[in-house]
Amino acid sequence: MGPATAAGPRAVDPSAVDLSTRLGTLVLPDPVLTASGCAAAGRELAPFVDLTAIGGVVTKSIMLEPRSGRPTPRMAETPSGMLNSIGLQGPGIEAFVAKDLHWLREHGVRTIVSIAGGTVQEYQKLAQRLRHEPGIGAIEVNISCPNVESRGQVFACDPFSAAQVVEVVRRHTAPGTPVLAKLSPDVTDIVAIARSVREAGADGVSMINTLLGMVIDPDTMRPVLGGMTGGLSGPAIRPVAVRAVWQVHAAFPDLPILGMGGIRTGRDAFEFLLAGASAVSVGTVVFHDPHALARISAELRELLAARGITRLADVVGLGHTMQARHVAAQATRRAAQEEALA
Ligand code: DHB
Repeated sequence: MGPATAAGPRAVDPSAVDLSTRLGTLVLPDPVLTASGCAAAGRELAPFVDLTAIGGVVTKSIMLEPRSGRPTPRMAETPSGMLNSIGLQGPGIEAFVAKDLHWLREHGVRTIVSIAGGTVQEYQKLAQRLRHEPGIGAIEVNISCPNVESRGQVFACDPFSAAQVVEVVRRHTAPGTPVLAKLSPDVTDIVAIARSVREAGADGVSMINTLLGMVIDPDTMRPVLGGMTGGLSGPAIRPVAVRAVWQVHAAFPDLPILGMGGIRTGRDAFEFLLAGASAVSVGTVVFHDPHALARISAELRELLAARGITRLADVVGLGHTMQARHVAAQATRRAAQEEALA
């Protein structure tokens, strides 16, 4: 069938819907992945979700050395969202490779490894260490962690720094392994950052990382989080994420996008696909609904079937086409009205 129109969908059987998609050369049978940081290396989710059936696991960003993270408290609730300040706590690359990556490989889980560094050289060492490890579907380069000591380390806030990191990671990663740059919404022009990482060799972008936020407790009269500021996630940020995906897809329609930010339902995921994402990551919702990934995928399947859409790939960026058609139809109507009045 052709792309669905808003009117007159011819429903198909949900089992007839092909949910497969791709992020560059990485082929995924399902478009729903975990979001980095929200499911560690996936093991904790295994009792709730068949990790081989979902799109894949995006691991918590790993750094070169073990790291204890930021002071507690590390979480604060916000209206329709969550603020966290973990500070990239983790076991370091060697333990990650030996335990987590090994487990993911043994269990046949499609794996995107997220890496984070404090310097360009650290990113280079991480890429070099992972280069010959089997079972890595893609590398997600976290250049946008909000919980670092200095804003100067948020590489994704500056086109030149973002490009520097992506260039070394691309150069030291196996040619067949896609490199995705994870972008921050805390910038004036996210398209400029996307352009820069694309030119530096990124095979795709992940959007969006959390927004930098703060909560102050009116009783203690000081910031709730030990680290003072934290990353805002959850439904509160979804419109910001959809806007970012839309803008980058409009500028670079061929650049694969892994979309994320407050996705709770299949309908939310559909929004990201319409905006131009080829796959989605689901994070914050998993904390209160560990079954969310499979549910969101099933809801998306039902939603596409109800609209008579048999291939998920057909809806990637479809919102842009629908909007262009809408604007053209409006212009035609207006011209006809003006002619009638003339
Ligand atoms: C952390 C890292 C992130 O990239 C993010 O968005 C939120 C938190 C962290 O480890 O603190």
